[in-house]
Amino acid sequence: MSKTLEKGTSEVNGLLWGARARDWAEVQEGQFAAAFHAVLARAKVGPDTRHLDAGCGAGMAAALSASLGATVSGLDASEALLRVARERTPGGDFRQGDLEALPFPDDGFDLVTGFNSFQYAGDPARALREAGRVTRPGGKVVIMTWGEPAGMEAAGHIAALKPLMPPPPPGAGGPFALSDETALRGFAEAGGLIPVEVRDVDTPWHYPDLATALRGMASSGVAVRAAQHSGEEELMAAMTGFLTPFERPDGTIGFGARARYLVATV
Ligand SMILES: C[S@@+](CC[C@H](N)C(=O)[O-])C[C@H]1O[C@@H](n2cnc3c(N)ncnc32)[C@H](O)[C@@H]1O
Repeated sequence: MSKTLEKGTSEVNGLLWGARARDWAEVQEGQFAAAFHAVLARAKVGPDTRHLDAGCGAGMAAALSASLGATVSGLDASEALLRVARERTPGGDFRQGDLEALPFPDDGFDLVTGFNSFQYAGDPARALREAGRVTRPGGKVVIMTWGEPAGMEAAGHIAALKPLMPPPPPGAGGPFALSDETALRGFAEAGGLIPVEVRDVDTPWHYPDLATALRGMASSGVAVRAAQHSGEEELMAAMTGFLTPFERPDGTIGFGARARYLVATV
């Protein structure tokens, strides 16, 4: 259990994010689908694109990319999530590994994306240098993170989880550390990338009912860590408290969320 307190290793993150892989894939991953679509459109993904999704999770973005004709590869720490990615895109090349040591040759991709992933690496600058290394000259690296928390309803669930989490390591910036545009550009530059633009995407979260919302929201690595530290009942109580105000008369649940992404070249 003490391992869960170590930050950022591929092994530890793989266990956290893969613990509830089916719930993540069936309910939670799709809450960011609008951002996946926006990034793939912005990057003009098509049949000529060789795309690596770094920290691909259950592979929804990779599957969307493949449906646009791209040749897709994916890397993630979690074998449980990769199993889903392979089911969804049988023609893809999905590998278990560490963002800090990508098992791919230099210059092999036109596009490398990290949807909410690079910031979880133990050494994010190293992970970004790896992303740059495997991207061909003139290719693109996209870093996606949360949008600015001010006025974002979904940000409240992070606040609800906070009391259940172990103390953050000294100097840890928290989930919204990269939401600030200057910080995000600095993050890319620290990894040797050249920022081109920063864009925001609304990606509202919707669930058919409270039980499904709880299943989805309990499946993130962050929620799994909260449950390990404080207990499943406490996690469910905190998430129910957050979700209940967003319950509509028909029982569905919906609230606003925003992603921010940076496009860089190498
Ligand atoms: C927030 S999830 C995002 C997953 C996917 N990109 C998505 O948007 O649904 C973060 C992902 O990064 C992976 N991850 C975290 N640290 C990693 C590391 N050091 N090496 C490889 N994968 C890592 C986790 O296993 C998890 O699937």
